[in-house]
Amino acid sequence: MTKPKFTIHSLVDLVWRGLRGTARMIRVAIPRLYGLALLLFICWLTFLSIRYLVRSLLVPSQTPEQIVGIPRRMEPELLTTERADWKAITAAETPRMPPAHYHRVDSWIDPDRFNDCSRSGCHGPLPHAKNKAVRAFLNMHATSIHCGVCHMETDDHPLRMTWYDLDTGSAQQPPAILTLYERLHDIKPDEKDADVLKQQHRELVALMQRTAKDMPEAKALRQLVEHFEAVRPGSRTYDRLLEETRAIIPRYFRGEYGAKLALKAEDGAPMLGHPDTTEAVAKFLAEGDQLALDDREQLLAKVHLLRRAQAYTCTECHRADASLVPLAQLGYPPARIEALSDPIVFEMIENIDAGRSFEMPQFLAPTSDD
Ligand code: HEC
Ligand code: HEC
Repeated sequence: MTKPKFTIHSLVDLVWRGLRGTARMIRVAIPRLYGLALLLFICWLTFLSIRYLVRSLLVPSQTPEQIVGIPRRMEPELLTTERADWKAITAAETPRMPPAHYHRVDSWIDPDRFNDCSRSGCHGPLPHAKNKAVRAFLNMHATSIHCGVCHMETDDHPLRMTWYDLDTGSAQQPPAILTLYERLHDIKPDEKDADVLKQQHRELVALMQRTAKDMPEAKALRQLVEHFEAVRPGSRTYDRLLEETRAIIPRYFRGEYGAKLALKAEDGAPMLGHPDTTEAVAKFLAEGDQLALDDREQLLAKVHLLRRAQAYTCTECHRADASLVPLAQLGYPPARIEALSDPIVFEMIENIDAGRSFEMPQFLAPTSDD
């Protein structure tokens, strides 16, 4: 038997043939694999579209996050949730809040984590329920005015008040949006001096940025600020944006300052609860339910040391002279004070609340020619 001879030449030949064979196989395999992948991809797409079709026909679609991703009621527990947990806030361009189901409320209100009345767990952040005629109005106030302003006894007239920061609970200057609104109204429409315009633009941008910072959810406002920052002062676009900003800013007046009004204590700090009541509150929370009615009332009186027998009427605050609230001192600009002082609407609501008959204004009555 002759042994096969392995020469270098036959080895190279073998390797070469092997390589050629593999290359041929790869050449044949690539189009086949490509065809197979394409086939699988088309099958997958067909499956997805048929599944989508069947699902959309047979399974009822889910209610969008913009609607279900908001808390239904403003309960005290909400004070401990982060607003980012509420899907509706991130899902929508303009976040919705529970009352927006019925009213055109463009914005989300800030939870007040420093309000002793609600963080104690006793009262909801929107606590008024009894009186249908005014409860929506009172709850709206509770988003920008601390409970104590209306419910705590004091001899001061006008009230001694301060703004407080909702992130820290400390006293702060009036919210930037009020100053911004004032500046927007001060602007002379025919201003031509380039330096004045430049200075004005710079100040407005700074105020708008501070305003947008107070309202992190107001995306539309942030976009407006960016746009306003980029325009040339004095141009037509600048004038148009000024007009737009003037119209938009009042939408953010209700409960979106990142701050609230409270009574001011002797040391200048906001009064965010009845003083020296920690013990009584703890006792009430622990045993309030088991107490006899009289004991319960006595303990409640200790919890609410400064409670007024009756809260104020609308027109005690909403009037042109001698308002209980020193609006100008609190940074409200004249145009806003005027809107808050005109008694027509507030008197009407007081009348409805008091059960008096409501009469249509004369100019709405039909004339004899109609
Ligand atoms: C703008 C003033 C104002 C503010 C702010 C305010 N309240 Fe009231 N509140 C009233 C008035 C007025 C009434 C009486 C309503 C009626 O029965 O006519 C009232 C009634 C109440 C009642 C009685 C029950 C009810 O359902 O009406 C409770 C409890 C109450 N307020 C708690 C609070 C708490 C807690 C806060 C803060 C989160 C607060 N209020 C903020 C004005 C205010
Ligand atoms: C303790 C003073 C006080 C009392 C009492 C009060 N308000 Fe007000 N109200 C204010 C202040 C301050 C504002 C502005 C709040 C803000 O800047 O968000 C306001 C805002 C309003 C607004 C919003 C106006 C707007 O243009 O945004 C309405 C409406 C209103 N109050 C109605 C009423 C009615 C109705 C009553 C009575 C049931 C009442 N208020 C009782 C102080 C009061």
